[in-house]
Amino acid sequence: MSSVVARAARLLPGRNRGASPPDSAAVLSALPVPVILLDADNRFRHVNQAAEQFLGVSASSLAQLHLNDLVPPDNPLFLLIDQVRRTEASIADHDLTVESPRLRKQGITVQGAPLPEEPGSVLLVMQDASAVRALDRQLTFRSAARSVTGMAAVLAHEVKNPLSGIRGAAQLLEQSVTPADQELTVLIRDEADRIRALVDRMEAFGDKPIERTAVNIHRVLEHVRKLAQSGFAAHVRFQENYDPSLPPVWGNRDQLVQVMLNLVKNAAEAVTGSSTSHPEIVLSTGFQHGMRIAVPGTTTRVDLPLYVTVRDNGAGIPDDIRPHLFEPFVTSRPSGSGLGLALVAKIVGDHGGLIEVDSRPGRTEFRLHLPVVTDAEGSQ
Ligand SMILES: Nc1ncnc2c1ncn2[C@@H]1O[C@H](COP(=O)(O)OP(=O)(O)OP(=O)(O)O)[C@@H](O)[C@H]1O
Ligand SMILES: [Mg+2]
Repeated sequence: MSSVVARAARLLPGRNRGASPPDSAAVLSALPVPVILLDADNRFRHVNQAAEQFLGVSASSLAQLHLNDLVPPDNPLFLLIDQVRRTEASIADHDLTVESPRLRKQGITVQGAPLPEEPGSVLLVMQDASAVRALDRQLTFRSAARSVTGMAAVLAHEVKNPLSGIRGAAQLLEQSVTPADQELTVLIRDEADRIRALVDRMEAFGDKPIERTAVNIHRVLEHVRKLAQSGFAAHVRFQENYDPSLPPVWGNRDQLVQVMLNLVKNAAEAVTGSSTSHPEIVLSTGFQHGMRIAVPGTTTRVDLPLYVTVRDNGAGIPDDIRPHLFEPFVTSRPSGSGLGLALVAKIVGDHGGLIEVDSRPGRTEFRLHLPVVTDAEGSQ
């Protein structure tokens, strides 16, 4: 590996001249992107920490393995490696899927490079494209949430008052009109109630600061699963993959319930219908190092080491609404209000978290990255 760093150092004439070069292994291990060095027989010669995490296997175990032990031989990754060896040039492949019983990664970009000093060796650098897409989304939903915040205040103020007047008048009329006309007054009342419920939901977008405590995310998920299974998702099979060692989330329990409920409800709606023969929702949690985002308007960066995913095997998100998924009033369902995901985005944003989505027919996954309780908060 030292040759790689040495070559990079040659590209930086003048910089730090005289200072001793940093230890190449330390540089590699600090790199947040997975880096793997394969020898001519595809054995793992070296992996950095990010690669261990990416592959889900420790460096000491990898030292005993071939790439073929982790990835099936028909995977396009091997084509890339062969090409690098044949052409002795760097090659990048985008949107690769690396799937095996031990590993499941989609949308990754892999760059392969030869090491001239070590014939047959190939250096692989992996990048998870979904992380890049996530940052895009983050910006989208922050602005979407802001536009809703203002609108919610106006709506609550301007609509609720006259609405209660309309509802009261309809109730009064109901007592003095014929039974046939009563149907109409009931209709006015019901519709007024529906608008009120909508405005109440909009009010959740208000700009109040959130009150946070240490929240056990698994209790939140269990609560939501029970609610779902006793109501709207009674027909759905649930599967849980929880990491029991996770620390608590630094958040607002009720709001996190709202988030999970909306995601699970969407998933249940997506698997309901004739196209999905075995409707299933998978809830997972886990720990992921190195997920950090900037707090808008500041130079602070927060760690988001905990993730929660909601996956379903429904038809996938319709193409036409994907670019606007987290905006309010975007819906593909006749009875949907299109507020669920806008609210999810708003709450996750208020928590300083991040949401990603990956969807194709038969597999849709929403992934939340959330902050955990740190020493500073724990001692408050
Ligand atoms: N898991 C999913 N699978 C497929 N499509 C989804 C999924 N989740 C959301 N969508 C799509 O995103 C749209 C917006 O979702 P959102 O929750 O914001 O609104 P809604 O579910 O239509 O209405 P509401 O949640 O307000 O009742 C949905 O109408 C649906 O088209
Ligand atoms: Mg919804």
